[in-house]
Parts: sequence; C-alpha cells; structure tokens
Amino acid sequence: MAPQPTVVAAFEAAKGFMPLDEGLALHAAAEDAVALGLPLLEVGTYCGRSTILLADAARAAGLVAVTVDHHRGSEEQQPGWEYHDASLVDGEVGRMDTLPVFRRTLHRAGLEEHVVAMVGRSPQVAALWGAPLGLVFIDGGHTDEHANADYEGWAPHVAPGGLLVIHDVFPDPADGGQAPYRVYRRALASGAFTEISVTRSLRVLRRTGLGI
Ligand SMILES: C[S@@+](CC[C@H](N)C(=O)[O-])C[C@H]1O[C@@H](n2cnc3c(N)ncnc32)[C@H](O)[C@@H]1O
Repeated sequence: MAPQPTVVAAFEAAKGFMPLDEGLALHAAAEDAVALGLPLLEVGTYCGRSTILLADAARAAGLVAVTVDHHRGSEEQQPGWEYHDASLVDGEVGRMDTLPVFRRTLHRAGLEEHVVAMVGRSPQVAALWGAPLGLVFIDGGHTDEHANADYEGWAPHVAPGGLLVIHDVFPDPADGGQAPYRVYRRALASGAFTEISVTRSLRVLRRTGLGI
C-alpha cells in the first residue's frame, strides 16, 4: 500500500536526494520486509528523507527503523563538492552536522517514536550489532571503501527472506559513481541475494542463500 499523503508530503519536504519513485519503491520493500517481524536498518540517514519511509512501514507493523550516520556528511557533501549544502555546516565546529535537521524532520513527520538513530561510523556500529534484520538499506558513503564496508558490516545480518536495498546503483559510469554498482554486483555474485525490483538507481535484493 502506498504511504499516506501526509507521509509523502513529509518525505518531499525533507532535505535529501531521493526522488519520489525510488522512495515509493523503498517503502514497498519495507512493507514486504516487515512481514519477518524484524527491525529495518538504514546506513546513511543524512536529514531523514528516506528514514521517513522506513519508519512509516515500521510503525504500521509495530517495529522500529534503525538508522546509522556519523552526520558529518559524505565526501561529495563536503565544502566545494557537488552536493554540499552550506546551511548544514555547524558554524562553531566548522563541520557538517545533519543531526539537528534530521531530528526536526522526524519530529515534524510524527515518527520519532518509531526510529532508533545511531550516531557513529557504520563499520564501528556494525561491529557492535548482533541481531537479525528484515531489511538493510545501504545509502552511506559512496567510495569503494565505504560501500564495501557497509556491505560487509550489515549484509550478514539480513535474515533469510529479508531484503538488501542499495541506492545509487549506476551501471553506466556517465550516470554516477560506480562503488554502489560494484557492491550490487558483488551481492548478486555471492549467490546469497536475488534481485526482485529495479526503480531507477534503487535495487531491491532478497536473501535467498547463505553468506554474503
Ligand atoms: C547520500 S546521504 C544519505 C541520504 C539519505 N538516505 C536520504 O535519502 O536522504 C549519505 C550519508 O551517509 C553518511 N555516511 C557516509 N559515510 C559514512 C560512514 N562511514 N558511517 C556513517 N555514515 C556515513 C553521510 O554522513 C551522509 O549523511
């Protein structure tokens, strides 16, 4: 079922990069995954745009969405880079801080109670994690180092029948960076995941085998 208009409006009002068709595909994946009765997890919170959709599906199922970010921005969001937003710089510290904006996003959407936000580096958080997940959404750092670390840290926790969702998968280098595409290929080549949907750069895979 598509999200309620209020949820779509909150998504569209939030800062972020995800277009609505990919958001709806992410929401549909989350609605599928909640059938397992396990938490959903996102790597790459930013200002909470995609978190809204995971949280909405989690809320409907009585579950939580977990979201991980150090809130200092990815490489391409730093000053001088294509995706920099100067309004997100903490003037006192002199570095990006998306955490306050994220909290306001969730508060406005009425979804705070359905989200657990973890502030830290994805590999460090993953090293502490020990529970199975219904869905893992990888949308963190887009270098090979970060994308592979996210895959290695979080994909092992996707439960049988659960979903691995990867954003910014661009088979053609002219469309964008290749690290998420290489991780997507790696997941398929592992034999552990089978693709179930493609919406623009959003790929949804289901765990149909063991390992990563
Ligand atoms: C593309 S943005 C996420 C966009 C968000 N999912 C949305 O749809 O609005 C990537 C985020 O990943 C975070 N990030 C990058 N590398 C990270 C790492 N190693 N650990 C934690 N967060 C990381 C950045 O701080 C940034 O907020």
